[in-house]
Amino acid sequence: MSTQKRIEDMRKRTEKVLAAGGPKRVEKQHASGKLTARERIEKLLDPGSFVELDRFVEHRCSNFGMEKVDLPGEGVTTGYGTVEGRLVYVFAQDFTVQGGSLGEMHAAKIIKVQRLSMKMGAPLVGLNDSGGARIQEAVDALAGYGKIFFENTIASGVIPQISAIMGPSAGGAVYSPAITDFIYMVKNTSKMFITGPEVVKTVTGEIVTAEQLGGAMTHNSTSGVAHFAAEDDDDCLAQIRYLLSFLPSNNMETAPIVDTGDDAMRTSEELNNLLPDNPNQAYDMYEVIRNIVDNGEYYESQKYFATNIITCFARMDGQTVGIIANQPKVMAGCLDINASDKSARFIRFCDAFNIPLLNLVDVPGFLPGTNQEYGGIIRHGAKMLYAYSEATVPKITLVTRKAYGGSYLAMCSQDLGADQVIAWPTSEIAVMGPAGAANIIFKGDPEVDKKTAEYVENFATPYQAAKRGFVDIVIEPKDSRPTIINALNMLASKREVRPAKRHGNIPL
Ligand code: HXC
Repeated sequence: MSTQKRIEDMRKRTEKVLAAGGPKRVEKQHASGKLTARERIEKLLDPGSFVELDRFVEHRCSNFGMEKVDLPGEGVTTGYGTVEGRLVYVFAQDFTVQGGSLGEMHAAKIIKVQRLSMKMGAPLVGLNDSGGARIQEAVDALAGYGKIFFENTIASGVIPQISAIMGPSAGGAVYSPAITDFIYMVKNTSKMFITGPEVVKTVTGEIVTAEQLGGAMTHNSTSGVAHFAAEDDDDCLAQIRYLLSFLPSNNMETAPIVDTGDDAMRTSEELNNLLPDNPNQAYDMYEVIRNIVDNGEYYESQKYFATNIITCFARMDGQTVGIIANQPKVMAGCLDINASDKSARFIRFCDAFNIPLLNLVDVPGFLPGTNQEYGGIIRHGAKMLYAYSEATVPKITLVTRKAYGGSYLAMCSQDLGADQVIAWPTSEIAVMGPAGAANIIFKGDPEVDKKTAEYVENFATPYQAAKRGFVDIVIEPKDSRPTIINALNMLASKREVRPAKRHGNIPL
């Protein structure tokens, strides 16, 4: 064959792959509100930066007449490109090619980018849209999933792994995203479940729609499986780019410093007036966050789940911080099972990727009740204690109001390794709420009311803790931002070495 013919032949082969499942299936994909795999990659990466790998990979299945079935690109597009100029690996399952189903060679393409992203220390973004294991390939498909799970696990804590569910993700296929750091779901078009509504009906008799069972808001608000919800594909891909802007490329780097233009020494009179005089009255912790971070901008993970605690990324003087904050407006900011799980995982992500932790504390305690005890609040709450103690990144704790008992410790007290504990004069750092404590100490005392008032005056303050050095600095609320930024700068060179071990055993 002449050179020209060979080039012509290559072009034809390329065209065939680019045509994916053909115009009808592409049309169906668009009609269902979804972009194609290639369109998604184009929108995720910087324009023109995508380099495709393994375009001509083919399956080698001969079961059920598959030897005659052509699957362009093996139903998944893989490669690398850049986001804001930084290297990112990507795979996007192509639903127009046999429903994006995963066979041996489809898996091999994904595994290749998993391994490359690890070697290069670059994030991996997986865009999932698949009918699951390619039935015709049987155990070869299962083996493919197994290898993907394994690589996901090895990469955990080395590179950020981000999964977007942009169509179906059913059966064991859900577990690759579940092992990764963050899951995005697109409203209306994405579904995640172990078994679909039909199987549920047969096994348990429950009648439920696919959306109720595993739609975007089910997993964002009820199960806590997903971290972010997107309005549509465009929004999802833009949000992933935004998340990446807060993250380092790998565990050996720090997050990029961004010139946000906000004054590091900016004070905020608003904070001096935020807290109500009555300590039992709620206020909005988002106001505190908005006031202290650069330009009031933050990006919240698990915004709809366990809303009694807030977990978000923000910048302070251009540097990414991970914020964990009690929300007094929801369940008085109590810690419960879901809040513990949500924050422990976020803390561990930040620690793995050198992101300093800022803890904003207004917590009256762990939520009491049989529901919580039977659900294992002891086991779940322990995750927070463990995650904070384990974390060696800079840890800054700002107590705004209540910090009682075990929950005071669980929100990263000095004893759990907080490098700086800062308190507002409104802080109440105590073994328990003042009314409860006075009731025990002065039970039966005719002067109980007077003595309770004295107790509140003396013990519901930051000064008992400050006397022992458990609080490093007491500040006016308005000075929070400059004080935290000074602490971050002071802690920039922090090094903390822990004993060598295979790994710890976090309560699960
Ligand atoms: C082979 C598949 C497939 C699969 C879909 N297709 N899923 N081919 N293996 N798993 C094919 C269809 O035959 C069809 O081919 C095309 O993809 C599009 O599918 P449709 O059904 O037309 O699309 P839609 O109506 O949108 O329905 C999508 C769907 C449905 C809900 C995902 O296809 C479905 O229920 N698929 C089966 C899901 C499933 O049971 N998967 C296996 C689970 S077991 P044509 O040629 O017509 O375009 C599993 C184990 C993993 O995943 C364990 C890992 C540990």
